[in-house]
Amino acid sequence: MEIIIAKYSGFCSGVKIAVELVEKNISNNTVTFGPLVHNQSVTDYFKRKGVDYIESPEGINNKTVIVRSHGVSPEVISKLEAGENTVINGTCPFVTNVQRIAKNIIENNKQLIILGDKNHPEVIGINGWAKYKGIIINDLEELQGYQQDQDQDLKLDLSKPIGVVVQTTFNMEKFHTIISKLREQAMDIEVHNTICKATNERQSAVRDMAEKVDMVLVIGGKESSNTAKLTSICKSLDVVTYQIEEAKEIDPSWLNNIKSVGITAGASTPDWIIREVISMVNELNGQEEVKGEEQENAWE
Ligand code: F3S
Repeated sequence: MEIIIAKYSGFCSGVKIAVELVEKNISNNTVTFGPLVHNQSVTDYFKRKGVDYIESPEGINNKTVIVRSHGVSPEVISKLEAGENTVINGTCPFVTNVQRIAKNIIENNKQLIILGDKNHPEVIGINGWAKYKGIIINDLEELQGYQQDQDQDLKLDLSKPIGVVVQTTFNMEKFHTIISKLREQAMDIEVHNTICKATNERQSAVRDMAEKVDMVLVIGGKESSNTAKLTSICKSLDVVTYQIEEAKEIDPSWLNNIKSVGITAGASTPDWIIREVISMVNELNGQEEVKGEEQENAWE
C-alpha cells in the first residue's frame, strides 16, 4: 500500500512560536489562556510538565499567563494585568494582523464583517479589538439572516461602507462564495483576505493529495477549526475520509481493499503524532513496524 503525506501538514509557524514560548516558561506558576492548541495530547504533555490552562481572567493573580496563537481581546489582557500577572503574548502574527485591520475598520466608521465561527476564540478575540461591533458570518445562510432578520442587534446595511476580514483558518472556497455574493450587493466594500498562508497551503495540499488516494486520514483535535476544514475539503471531494486524534483510533477494517492512503494533519498536530499514525498504518498493512515515540522536546 502506498502512503502519501500532504506536502504541507502539521504544526504551522504560529503554533510553533506559542509552543516554544511555553517550553521556555515551563513552571508550576505558568498557565496558558485556553488550551495552547486544540490537541489533547499537547495539552496533556504540558500538564505533565506543570503548565495548565485557564478559561477566564477572573480570579487569576501573580501568574505567568501565555496568550495562545488564537489571541484574546484587549479586555482580557487588561484584566490579567490588573491581577498582577505577567502576560506573555503568543498571538500568531497573522492573527494580530486581523485584529489590527478589524480595529481600523471600526475606527473608520465602517461596518465590519468577520467571516468565521462566532464561537471560535480567534473570532471572539478579533471582535474584541473591534469593540464587539463585528457582524460575524460563517456561511451564506447567516449572511441572508443578517439582511432579513430585523431583530438582529447589529444590522447589515449594504448601502453603507463595509470592511471584511476573515478568520485565519476559514475555508478558501467558502470565502470566495460569500465574497462574490457580497460584492454583487454591497455599494462600497473592502475585502481583506486574512486567511493565513499556512491554512492556504494546507488546504491546497490536501486537495492535491486527496485526488491521488483511496482514503484520507486527517489527524487533529476534534475542536481544531483548521483540522475540521481539511476533513470537510476531503469529504467534498468524495474521498473516504476519517478524522482521528491519535493512531490508536484507526480501525483496521478501514484499510480493507485500500491501495493508497493519504495523510494530512491540522496546524495544531505535532509531528510525533503524525509519525505514530504512519507507523500504525504500516503495521496494519503488514509492513515493517517503525514505532513512533512521543519525544519530550521534539516538536519538529
Ligand atoms: Fe497562525 Fe495560521 Fe497557524 S494564523 S497559528 S499560522 S494556522
